[in-house]
Amino acid sequence: MTKDSVLAVLIKEKGFVSGERISKQLGVSRMAVSAAVKALRGEGYDISSSTNKGYRLNNIQDKISPGELMACLPENRMEKVICLDTVDSTNRYLKQLAVNGAESGTVVIAEEQTRGRGRRGRDFKSPKSKGIYISFLYRPDCSPSDSTVITAWTAVACTRAIKKACGVDAGIKWVNDIILDNKKAGGILTEMSVESEIGRVEYIIIGIGINVNETIDEFDPELRDKAVSLYMSTGEPQRRVKLAAELITELDRLASVFPSHSGEYLEEYRLKNVTVGKKIRAVMPQGEKNGTAIRINDNYSLKVRFDDGSISDLSSGEISIRGMAGYM
Ligand code: BTN
Repeated sequence: MTKDSVLAVLIKEKGFVSGERISKQLGVSRMAVSAAVKALRGEGYDISSSTNKGYRLNNIQDKISPGELMACLPENRMEKVICLDTVDSTNRYLKQLAVNGAESGTVVIAEEQTRGRGRRGRDFKSPKSKGIYISFLYRPDCSPSDSTVITAWTAVACTRAIKKACGVDAGIKWVNDIILDNKKAGGILTEMSVESEIGRVEYIIIGIGINVNETIDEFDPELRDKAVSLYMSTGEPQRRVKLAAELITELDRLASVFPSHSGEYLEEYRLKNVTVGKKIRAVMPQGEKNGTAIRINDNYSLKVRFDDGSISDLSSGEISIRGMAGYM
């Protein structure tokens, strides 16, 4: 723990900071500070030390580690954040914690997932130290039908975090894909447990995967014309830790204002949506159909005029957009 806190102080300070100041700030001994610096050096952090000036961090590793995240988040927020090096799926891991009573706001974030899960039973490839793989536990007081709204709000939260951390305006493809350059840069998988006797939500796991520093060859061949990373889109490697911290901040905000700020999120969702007005193909339980997306309804369902003249409000399922990679 001291090691993480010392790293956070060094990241925030940017220049030299005396061992005495660090020890006072953290309420630990000078010996503990020096041991923490040694441990951090062992992890690859380049830390200069000068007898008069103290310590200075010369490199940031962009590891999704408690110390790096702590430097970007309010004090005490890390108490409910679990950073893992590798895990099968952050959603599955967090679900286990939820079953055992973890608090709303608990976050699991991993450098790598070996069996990341996507929507509709698909895999979500999660290469080590490239993307963000994060799950957020939310215990809202709502009915299961509100979960669509929470997923849509999460898409807004993701675009806000991307804008703040990377300066990029991402779009949203109905219902919850994050889009850059007409390609998928991220997705959301919400999983819910319902208290069956009272028909209320017990908890929701909001899982987010964002492609951050992947290069094209790091995507599976079949995804190369459909997927994009923030790095590919901006031409600049991005700091994943900063984006992760912004995501946590936005998810905390979502959880604290749901459902009262519905106008604000709906307006932004509509503004950022890249679906309305486009020719689409809808994949529904009863088959596939072509049509035009005409409106995002107030409950986030998608109004579609099908080519056979019928009009439907889609509330689940999947669509592909003509002109966007992946439309078939
Ligand atoms: C999709 O677009 O199909 C949804 C992808 C969601 C992936 C994220 S990564 C973190 C969390 N853990 C998982 O196993 N899946 C979600």
